[in-house]
Amino acid sequence: CSQNVCKDRKYVIDTLLNGLSRLEYRGYDSAGIAVDGDDDKDMYIFKQVGKVKELRSHIDKATVDFSKQFNSQASMGHTRWATHGQPSPINCHPHRSDVTNEFSVVHNGIITNYKELRLVLEKKGHKFETDTDTEAVAKLAKFIFDSNPKIADFPTLVKSVCKELEGAFAFVFKSVHFPNQLVIARRGSPVLIGVKTDQKLKTDFVDVEIPAEDAIPAAFEESPTGSSLLTASPQHQLRRSQSRAFLTNGQSTDPIEYFIASDASAIVEHTKRVLYLEDDDIAHIHDGELHIHRLNRANDKTSSVRSIETLEIEIAEIMKGSFEHFMQKEIYEQPESVINTMRGRINFDTKEITLGGLKQYLTTIRRCRRMVLVACGTSYHSCLAVRQVFEELTEIPVSVELASDFLDRRTPIFRDDVCVFLSQSGETADTILALRYSMERGALCLGVVNTVGSTISRETHCGIHINAGPEIGVASTKAYTSQYIALLMMAVQLSEDRLSKLERRQQLIDGLHDLPSQIKKVLQSDETLTMLAKGMIDQRSLLIMGRGYQYSTCLEGALKIKEISYMHSEGILAGELKHGPLALIDENMPVILVMTQDSFYPKVQSALMQITARKGLPIIICNEGDKSLTENYKTIQVPKSVDALQGLLNVVPLQLLSYHLAVGRGYDVDFPRNLAKSVTVE
Ligand code: G6P
Repeated sequence: CSQNVCKDRKYVIDTLLNGLSRLEYRGYDSAGIAVDGDDDKDMYIFKQVGKVKELRSHIDKATVDFSKQFNSQASMGHTRWATHGQPSPINCHPHRSDVTNEFSVVHNGIITNYKELRLVLEKKGHKFETDTDTEAVAKLAKFIFDSNPKIADFPTLVKSVCKELEGAFAFVFKSVHFPNQLVIARRGSPVLIGVKTDQKLKTDFVDVEIPAEDAIPAAFEESPTGSSLLTASPQHQLRRSQSRAFLTNGQSTDPIEYFIASDASAIVEHTKRVLYLEDDDIAHIHDGELHIHRLNRANDKTSSVRSIETLEIEIAEIMKGSFEHFMQKEIYEQPESVINTMRGRINFDTKEITLGGLKQYLTTIRRCRRMVLVACGTSYHSCLAVRQVFEELTEIPVSVELASDFLDRRTPIFRDDVCVFLSQSGETADTILALRYSMERGALCLGVVNTVGSTISRETHCGIHINAGPEIGVASTKAYTSQYIALLMMAVQLSEDRLSKLERRQQLIDGLHDLPSQIKKVLQSDETLTMLAKGMIDQRSLLIMGRGYQYSTCLEGALKIKEISYMHSEGILAGELKHGPLALIDENMPVILVMTQDSFYPKVQSALMQITARKGLPIIICNEGDKSLTENYKTIQVPKSVDALQGLLNVVPLQLLSYHLAVGRGYDVDFPRNLAKSVTVE
């Protein structure tokens, strides 16, 4: 959305499409944009199935005047990952209220009561053209606008719409009735607003405008959600002049641009100055000003200002550079990203660890009755990887929970529990819901996240940023190793008051010191792994086995292989071999055995015997120089680390193997089918 910035339509479209390409990793089955038409009563909507580049070529072929100049304009776009309705041109966002595009909307999230809304709106004569939940929102906006002539401003209208909705959303609304304006609403799904101007901003925060009263006009006489019709009154009109908004130097002629996105990577090339919306914020951009309103007045405990923050990511961090894929780049970044996780936190001379984000809470954490680690996907595996050493160092019982199951079971949580929420994105819906559930029960809640400013980092009491840098590849790699280290550092710091653990702590800190160079060494086996992948390309299945510290390595390796090469793969606890998986073993079943030297080595050795006795031909991940293995089996050799850190090295060949399998099988490594980087819906 821009004001007093003279640009042509091509600039507007390019800006949207570039932003959408940067967001493609979050969803990529179709994309669309809505831009201003040739006059105020007009809007163009372009949609296309596939990736953003397909949309770009579709627009290039369109008969529009790309040179048309705008002094002020408001436009929006969306890249979709289907929840309701198949990927198809019609189901792409933006969705519209009617054929003349009176209202259009883009949406991230899920509207759970859309069927009820759709039924009511259909009865009122609205014709639906898509299978999506979002279309009901656009139509609802038109319905409210048409039936409440006293609604004089766009944000009041959007408030009325949001009052009728159940579920999660981040919306941007655009309307021909309110030209050059955008309204953004958030509940449950992330959204941030970037501000770009050469002038000095009037303030480094925006006041939140609280409605004089809660009298927002409801949509229906007999509403699907039970409310009844209120007549709009002048109180609903927002008192814009009373609040502090962004307006450069107080001069309405100053050029200013606003960039709204669900992730900073989409806008960082334009501005690093951003503010994050909270749940139930309704932001309104108009005449170069940004105003933020609250949906409700009652029981509003959120802060009354939204401050502007400066992003620390650089554009180079979200580019592929000389790598073929983001995933490959991220695998190769690990020697550096693990240093970034440790930087400023570990003193390798005094062998001490200080995590600033936990400082205030250390005593409470040490006294807790148990620690519950909650996460999804790869983040969950990093919790499993550290559980054993965590319990050993802290002597606190640790349970590890998948966020969805934690919620399904309504797991008992108490005030003296400490719950830790791990998430690369900080936006995974299940993990956020688990966090809110635990907060309500009075537990101390910690976040371990990569994305600064994300919902989990903002809603937890305290936490650790893993500082791995932006991760774009859908299959998580460097976040895993950094999460692993972050949790490990936490365990070491928590055990500081135990003299009996001193030696173990020092051993782990020394191990962490050597880790970056050891990861570099593992990366040198890339060529061997490419060859190995070639040999496996036509296999249908791959079993990965190990035990103890390495069970999580097996699960994580198998997840990588499934995610991007679409080959069935299972991570198996070697101790369970004889309880079922052994039935799968024969000379044809590909098996990788993780068999590095730790106290479980003899037990894995007996698993190896059981496999070879069934004519299995495992490939073994082992330590360099383990002659009994290297001389008798096909091996992948890795340097030796401390037992609890060895998984940080062992996982790297599996990341590379999955990468080469996917490339070899001709799949789109960074955008695996049906998957999204950050799953912001339940
Ligand atoms: C999705 C991604 C995974 C990720 C998981 C949890 O499934 O594809 O790579 O591990 O979400 O994401 P989070 O951001 O919470 O770590």
